[in-house]
Amino acid sequence: MGNKASFPVVPTSQDRIVMVTGANCGIGYEIAKWTAMMGATVILACRSEEKARAAIEKMEKEFTEEKARGTSKLTERARLAIEFMKVDLGSFKSVDHFCEEYKKSGRPLHVLVCNAGIASIPFMKNEDGLEMILQVNYLSHFLITAKLLPTMKRSGVDCRIIFVSSTAEKLASFDKESINYTGSARNYPVHSCYNRSKLYQVMQMFAMSRRLTGTNITVNSLHPGIVETEIWRYSNSWMTRCLLFFARCFCVTRTPINGATCAIDLAVNPEHTGVSGHFWKDCKMTSTSRLSRNEEKQEALWNASFNFVNEYLTMEEINCMEGENRNI
Ligand SMILES: NC(=O)c1ccc[n+]([C@@H]2O[C@H](COP(=O)([O-])OP(=O)(O)OC[C@H]3O[C@@H](n4cnc5c(N)ncnc54)[C@H](OP(=O)(O)O)[C@@H]3O)[C@@H](O)[C@H]2O)c1
Repeated sequence: MGNKASFPVVPTSQDRIVMVTGANCGIGYEIAKWTAMMGATVILACRSEEKARAAIEKMEKEFTEEKARGTSKLTERARLAIEFMKVDLGSFKSVDHFCEEYKKSGRPLHVLVCNAGIASIPFMKNEDGLEMILQVNYLSHFLITAKLLPTMKRSGVDCRIIFVSSTAEKLASFDKESINYTGSARNYPVHSCYNRSKLYQVMQMFAMSRRLTGTNITVNSLHPGIVETEIWRYSNSWMTRCLLFFARCFCVTRTPINGATCAIDLAVNPEHTGVSGHFWKDCKMTSTSRLSRNEEKQEALWNASFNFVNEYLTMEEINCMEGENRNI
């Protein structure tokens, strides 16, 4: 329910590589499965090998069922080209290692879907000393985009970066001096941390899109809807319980495939070639908060984000993010 949008099934070469973070379940699972069923090589960037391997098995089974149903334009290969790569977004070291391994492989990267995310979790600080939602949802994806951007710039025409964000960004506030929550566990404002992480993704999308104008890479962001996934697993707060209760009562919650539709459309639809710097909902462009569109604040966030991850970046990667070396 709650989504009449759809995506085209676009036959895709196995040479086209799509990377999806958090692809073992929920929205990311569907994005990975459908882009693989269209023929692309898909990297499942997940923290648990066990879960990713189980997901790959399930995708193969569902691929066989989809073919038996007669769905047209799926890849004619017998098996999907899906691979697992380990990355824990709660650790910059792990993200750095993951990106370095990918770069070492010498392969191109055409589509990067920054999907993995966490929401109503208990307060957690990670090994980098940062609040977990900030790092998993935003900063680690910032680092991945920075480290893999040179690879994408060398990957030929029509490369795409997609941030799975949320309209929850509209509820967020911004203060460049307190990007990371440093208060006590007792007063942990979990919802506000989540909303901010989603705001930061939208602001990054705008700031990156400006710098990528005229290159082979587009960058967009989206809201998937209220989707019945495991993201709600730790949701004990009355606010989340109320939201879910009313969403279910009014039948506006979505299945993972309905939640993934907009992201799949942005990843594969030839109509979106060259379209950049937009926020999408139900496969249509839509507006974002005034705050997210404030360029001065986007630039402040951009600079603050580098301060968190600088030690993991080379000069080439920083210059590439800054829009220098436009055509490497
Ligand atoms: N569901 C919704 O209603 C909704 C609404 C708006 C936006 N979104 C956004 O949609 C995206 C996908 O969420 P979903 O609903 O599909 O949630 P989900 O089913 O819980 O999937 C989240 C994925 O992120 C992965 N992940 C979490 N922490 C990670 C870490 N430290 N390192 C690597 N991967 C990690 C999870 O892996 P594990 O299985 O190992 O935990 C899982 O694969 C998120 O960015 C979320 O903010 C969702």
